[in-house]
Amino acid sequence: MTLATEQLQAVIFDLDGVITDTAEFHFLAWQQLATELGIKFTRHDNEQLKGVDRLGSLKLILQQGGLTLDNAALQHWSDWKNQRYLELLVDMQPHDVFPLVPELLTHLRAAGLLLGLASASRNAPLVLERLKLTQAFDFIADPALQAQGKPAPDIFLAVSTALAVPPACCIGVEDAPAGIRAVKAAGMIAVGIGTPAALSQADLVLPTTGMLTPLLLRQCFTALQR
Ligand code: BG6
Ligand code: MG
Repeated sequence: MTLATEQLQAVIFDLDGVITDTAEFHFLAWQQLATELGIKFTRHDNEQLKGVDRLGSLKLILQQGGLTLDNAALQHWSDWKNQRYLELLVDMQPHDVFPLVPELLTHLRAAGLLLGLASASRNAPLVLERLKLTQAFDFIADPALQAQGKPAPDIFLAVSTALAVPPACCIGVEDAPAGIRAVKAAGMIAVGIGTPAALSQADLVLPTTGMLTPLLLRQCFTALQR
């Protein structure tokens, strides 16, 4: 048996679908856009959009509908979707955080772990502010500064660099297949929130973020070190 050489030092969270149910708001806004454009778009189709940035998601929907748009139209519909999304966010309150997540973040910090946020959403700072969770994170990455979006590892690597923690000492928590691929590509352990069928590349999958504990994360980390 090889002894574990690394210690878990940081946990890096996705936001939408991990901290709060904004994944549903993104879906509803994309669905409205697809209806406007006469494209059939189901919840199943939406799975492939999770974690993908705004323009990339729009292009995937257009591709599905067999539509091509010029840059001005792409910008228009991208802004249109964001307006719908922002309307859905209007009433967001601190109690809209997923159950037990504030407690989890507090316990992880008390256990000496650094906390990062790696969301592809340019609305992440606004969502965190509405949830009163901005201060819960040691570093919040700006997706606009990343060369490539998920499934590329860039945003997870940016967080580990900012926290001065090697990727091998981080766990990434994600609800999207593209996000899990990004965590793995960054060389981190991946915890999936959802179903094992949807997140088959994750090292551990739980139905909800609130089921995580510092002990469970440390045990998962140690088991995968061996
Ligand atoms: C990701 C979501 O977190 O952010 C995607 O999973 C979304 O659904 C992406 O498209 C970009 O979000 P925003 O707020 O910048 O349009
Ligand atoms: Mg997500």
